[in-house]
Amino acid sequence: MTFQQILTNHERLAGLDIDQLRQLVGLVEYDAAGDPFPVSGWDSIVWVVGNATQTAHFFQSAFGMDLVAYSGPATGDREGHSFVLESGAVRFVVRGAVDPDSTLIEHHRKHGDGVVDIALAVPDVDTCIAHARGQGVDVLVEPHQISDEHGTVRLATIAAYGDTRHTLVDRSRYAGPYLPGYVRRESTYRKRDGAPRRIFQALDHVVGNVELGKMDQWVGFYQRVMGFTNMAEFVGEDIATEYSALMSKVVSNGNHRVKFPLNEPAIAKKRSQIEEYLDYYGGPGVQHLALATNDILTAVDHLVAEGIEFLATPDSYYEDPELRARIGSVRVPIEELQKRGILVDRDEDGYLLQIFTKPVVDRPTVFFELIERHGSLGFGIGNFKALFEAIEREQDARGNF
Ligand SMILES: [Fe+2]
Repeated sequence: MTFQQILTNHERLAGLDIDQLRQLVGLVEYDAAGDPFPVSGWDSIVWVVGNATQTAHFFQSAFGMDLVAYSGPATGDREGHSFVLESGAVRFVVRGAVDPDSTLIEHHRKHGDGVVDIALAVPDVDTCIAHARGQGVDVLVEPHQISDEHGTVRLATIAAYGDTRHTLVDRSRYAGPYLPGYVRRESTYRKRDGAPRRIFQALDHVVGNVELGKMDQWVGFYQRVMGFTNMAEFVGEDIATEYSALMSKVVSNGNHRVKFPLNEPAIAKKRSQIEEYLDYYGGPGVQHLALATNDILTAVDHLVAEGIEFLATPDSYYEDPELRARIGSVRVPIEELQKRGILVDRDEDGYLLQIFTKPVVDRPTVFFELIERHGSLGFGIGNFKALFEAIEREQDARGNF
């Protein structure tokens, strides 16, 4: 399979080319022949929130996304509002209840604002479901198709960790703005003068937090069911501070377009950040989404100007001679990174720049990472310790440490 073939229509429409995408998210070559569950990329990230009207505005005004489609009472959906937002190849769908008896309300009561569905683009829904079923997977929604004047979409949904799902979407015969039932919708919101056209262009990885002892089970799920392979593994000293710890393994599809790090808490002196998440989310769920950008400095400046808060990185991080030696030279002076608290990591393939927001919802659960890759296919392991110490300071301030 060539790189060209793995660009989804959505990515092509977003004006991304394969070289940009390769750099943004660290794509690798792979042969799809023999892949039991071919995945071509992300389709969408579906959120359930307490106030979709306002969250949709937040993703536009703060994160620079564009409103492209909508469904709600006026379009025949009596249950709730759904706003579809895009930035480059990234598509978020934000759902909130209108009907007081909606199941969305129960979901929100249990989990707060969060990600309910990590929808994946697949070329053949039925092949994937047949394979998944053979592996004993819970098929929540059987393969079916829905149509309107823009064409036909084929869909099915399987269960993942906690109440999280994966809807498999083949929209190769569909030209509408999102799905049948949705109408095209724009917003009167206008970006500030000087704001970048997009703050981020692609989704790099989506991280799941699972219960103690369950990480390997979910790694096995993605290997068996989706044919994903292990990319990285972080256990022991690397990702423990003096007080708290976690373990993490990363699985990805063949071309690394879709990467799922999976975390579980590890036993330590104090409460792991993963335990805090599990307590407040009410079980396993999506912890963070890494948004790939080609200009992390501008992205951070813009987000800070819009009031987004990032985890602080101590000056000692940048003054550490060992770190300076390890990271070598990067595209901007270290002082520019220090000013913004951007972290650097380098491995044998190159380097990456990254930074993490504080939780963007009321509960201490979901947050974003911004990542700018320069050849590195990693996740910033050299930063884990500095990062966790920053998270612990926040956890302590919340009284949860
Ligand atoms: Fe990450």
